[in-house]
Amino acid sequence: MFSVSSLVLFGLSILSKTSATILQNGQVRATDFPNTRVDLSTSKFKTYPANATEISYQGRWDSKHVSWWSAPGIKFGYTGQTVAISFGNLTSDGVLVGYRIGGLDWMFTNVTAGGTHLLVSPATPGSALTAPINPWTFELRVTNWAYGVQIDSVHVAPGEKLVKLPDFGRRIEVIGDSLASGMYTSYEGLSSWAYGLGAGLGNTDYSITAYPGICAADQDCWGNPRGQAHQWFYTSDTSYRASVMYGDNPEPWDFSKRPAADIVVINIGTNDQNAANNVSTPVYIDALTKIIQGVHGKWPEAQVVVMSLWLGFYQSGNSYLPNAPQGFVKEVYEMCKWFNSDDYLRNPTVYDGVKKKTSKTDKSAKPFVHYFNTTGIMQHNDIGPQWHPTDVGAIKVASHLQQFIRMTFGWELYATGPEVFHETLYWNDQANY
Ligand SMILES: *[C@@H]1O[C@H](CO)[C@@H](O)[C@H](O)[C@H]1NC(C)=O
Ligand SMILES: *[C@@H]1O[C@H](CO)[C@@H](O)[C@H](O)[C@H]1NC(C)=O
Ligand SMILES: *[C@@H]1O[C@H](CO)[C@@H](O)[C@H](O)[C@H]1NC(C)=O
Ligand SMILES: *[C@@H]1O[C@H](CO)[C@@H](O)[C@H](O)[C@H]1NC(C)=O
Ligand SMILES: *[C@@H]1O[C@H](CO)[C@@H](O)[C@H](O)[C@H]1NC(C)=O
Repeated sequence: MFSVSSLVLFGLSILSKTSATILQNGQVRATDFPNTRVDLSTSKFKTYPANATEISYQGRWDSKHVSWWSAPGIKFGYTGQTVAISFGNLTSDGVLVGYRIGGLDWMFTNVTAGGTHLLVSPATPGSALTAPINPWTFELRVTNWAYGVQIDSVHVAPGEKLVKLPDFGRRIEVIGDSLASGMYTSYEGLSSWAYGLGAGLGNTDYSITAYPGICAADQDCWGNPRGQAHQWFYTSDTSYRASVMYGDNPEPWDFSKRPAADIVVINIGTNDQNAANNVSTPVYIDALTKIIQGVHGKWPEAQVVVMSLWLGFYQSGNSYLPNAPQGFVKEVYEMCKWFNSDDYLRNPTVYDGVKKKTSKTDKSAKPFVHYFNTTGIMQHNDIGPQWHPTDVGAIKVASHLQQFIRMTFGWELYATGPEVFHETLYWNDQANY
C-alpha cells in the first residue's frame, strides 16, 4: 500500500541551482518573496565575522560556517533596527531561508552565494517592537535539508551591536529521515514536526539531524551512501552537496563544541523497512541500538525518546486503517524494554560511531530510553499523497510530542505564541452560509 518512490530522496540536484516550484494541493503556491539583496560596498554597516561569539549556531555547522541537515540556523540579539548577512560562496545559490524577529511569523527570501542581504530594516514589520522578547532577537533557518548557507559575516547599523542571547539551558536533538526533516510540508524544515517540537517547547535549542531517504543501517539507501548509525557522528549530512564539498572525508561532529542535548527524539526506520533497501529486522535493530548507544556515549545524561514507526493509510471498507511497518513495531518496543532491563543497565554499552562497541560498567546507570507510541495520532488525511505528514499532520505530531515531554520530564511549555507554522492559518470569517 505504499509506493517505492514514496521516500526517495530528491536532493540530487546540482550545487548551484536550488529554486523549485512550491505546490499546495497541486496548485502553484505564490512565492513572491522580497528580494533582499543589497550592495555591500555602498552600505554602511558595523560588521561581525562568522565566528563572533554573539552568534549562536543552531543545528550542525562545519568549520567553514556552512550549514547541514534540516532547519539549521543562527540566532542573536541586536540593537538598532538593521540586520544584514553576507553569505559565503559555499551557499546553495538561491536557497530559500526563513527569518524572523523575536517570536513573530517567519519571512522568507532567496539568498545568493557571495551576496549580502538586508533582512531587517526600520521598515520590517516588528522592527520597532521590543517586549516580550527583549532585546530584539533575530533568527534565521534554512528551509531545505539538501541545501545550505555559509555565513560570511553579520552586519548591524553603525554604532549598534550584536548581543549574545542567554543560554536557555534546554536542548533537544531529533534524529531521523524525511519524516523529521519536513519533506513534502509547505516550508519543508520550517513546517516539520521536529521544528514544531523545538519551537513549541520554547526557550529550547534544537538540532534536527534528519535527512530524506536515510536508513538507520549503515548502508546505501535511496542514494544516501551511509546510514545514521554512522552519519550522525559527522557534521555534514548524506547530500550530494556534502559529497562535492567533502568527498569521503566529512568533518566528525565535535560533540564538545556544544552542551549535551537533554532529550534526543529518534524517528528512523521507514527507509530500512522498505523492501527496496533490503535491510533485515536484526540489522535494523542493531543499527538503532548503536544510534542509542552512540547518544548515550556522547551525552550520558540524555534521555532518549524512540518513536514508533508509521506509514500511510489505506481505505478498508467504509473507513481507513494505518499500514503497519513490516515487522519493526514489535521489535522496536522490545528493544526499548531491553534498554531498561537490569541486564542491560548492569553493563551498558556505548558506541562511538567509528570504532567498535566499547563496554563500560556503570553500576549507577538508570533507564534512559522511552517509547513514544505514535499510533492514533495521525489519521487518514494527515498524510499527503507522497506518504509524508501534511502541515496539519506535522503539527499534530509536534503537539503530542510536546505533551509527552511535558508529562514525562516535567518540561514546561515556554512558547505561548512563537511556534508559528507559516501560512497554516486556515480560517473562516463568514457566518451563516
Ligand atoms: C525562491 O525559492 C523558492 C523555493 O525553492 C522558489 O519557489 C522561488 O522561485 C525562488 N524565488 C526566486 C526569486 O529565486
Ligand atoms: C575568528 O577568526 C579569526 C580569524 O581566523 C581569529 O583571528 C579570531 O580569533 C576568531 N575569533 C573568535 C572569537 O574565535
Ligand atoms: C567568493 O568568491 C569570490 C570570487 O571568486 C572571492 O573574491 C571571494 O573572496 C570569495 N569569498 C569567500 C568568502 O570565499
Ligand atoms: C538482500 O540481502 C540478502 C541477504 O544478505 C542477499 O542475499 C540479497 O542478494 C540482497 N538483495 C539485494 C537486492 O541486494
Ligand atoms: C500503541 O498504541 C496503540 C493504540 O492505542 C495500541 O493498540 C498499542 O498496543 C500500543 N503499543 C504499545 C507497545 O503500547
